[in-house]
Amino acid sequence: MADDRTPLFAIENLHAAADGAPILKGIDLRIPAGEVHALMGPNGSGKSTLASTLLGSPEYEVTAGRVLFKGDDITEWSADVRGKAGLFLAFQYPQEIAGVSVINFLRQALSARKGTELSVLELRASIMDWMERLGMDKSFADRYLNEGFSGGEKKRNEILQMAILEPELAILDETDSGLDVDALRIVAEGVRTVKAERPDLGVLAITHYRRLLDELQPDVVHVIVDGRIVATGGMEIAGQLERDGYDAFR
Ligand SMILES: Nc1ncnc2c1ncn2[C@@H]1O[C@H](COP(=O)(O)OP(=O)(O)OP(=O)(O)O)[C@@H](O)[C@H]1O
Ligand SMILES: [Mg+2]
Repeated sequence: MADDRTPLFAIENLHAAADGAPILKGIDLRIPAGEVHALMGPNGSGKSTLASTLLGSPEYEVTAGRVLFKGDDITEWSADVRGKAGLFLAFQYPQEIAGVSVINFLRQALSARKGTELSVLELRASIMDWMERLGMDKSFADRYLNEGFSGGEKKRNEILQMAILEPELAILDETDSGLDVDALRIVAEGVRTVKAERPDLGVLAITHYRRLLDELQPDVVHVIVDGRIVATGGMEIAGQLERDGYDAFR
């Protein structure tokens, strides 16, 4: 059970495999409430596998270790239950849902998360408020989810979901290699804006973009190589990566 020393989120010796082949080989990571952590690593190091495993994807089998959220062992929890408990995974939502508008989707997601129905009017007011803070166009709320969204609009939508759903921990996986500098800035500014309102929010941003780090200014940077965390430190690690590449960490 949670006490004052229980970190918001802890990954302990996590091993995961796909089709019997080990990919994550003992991941340890702790995120206290209110901290922004970045996870960087070369192609194929296991970043997306970690994100999918934290989401509870059946594609990966946890072969050892555990994941703790507010002191509860959530390793076996389904994605739905994780979401309801206050874990937000930006990519857990479908890319495109035919005929569901941004606002209707948020209404359903929020009622699943909170167990209460917000009136359309209340929700609209709250969404409009957040869209203004996030610099989004008002017409966005009535568009169909991700239909024809640009990369930047998808990112804004993810940040909007994060703002409305009020998670305690947000895991953002920047898998989209097409993200331009503007989209990275949207993510970073969005995280800052949401955090200003909710300082206890913990964030794990998974990326291989140095640029996102510069924008996000995380409290802690982790480096993953071949399924293991090989370095944990501050922004100086980003500089070291820039200079020496990942080889220095292997
Ligand atoms: N479902 C799967 N079945 C078999 N192998 C897999 C599966 N998923 C991932 N892998 C392998 O695990 C390794 C890690 O892949 P992963 O996608 O987690 O890397 P990544 O760090 O996200 O890379 P990138 O930076 O290119 O996005 C790769 O060698 C990949 O081929
Ligand atoms: Mg990946």
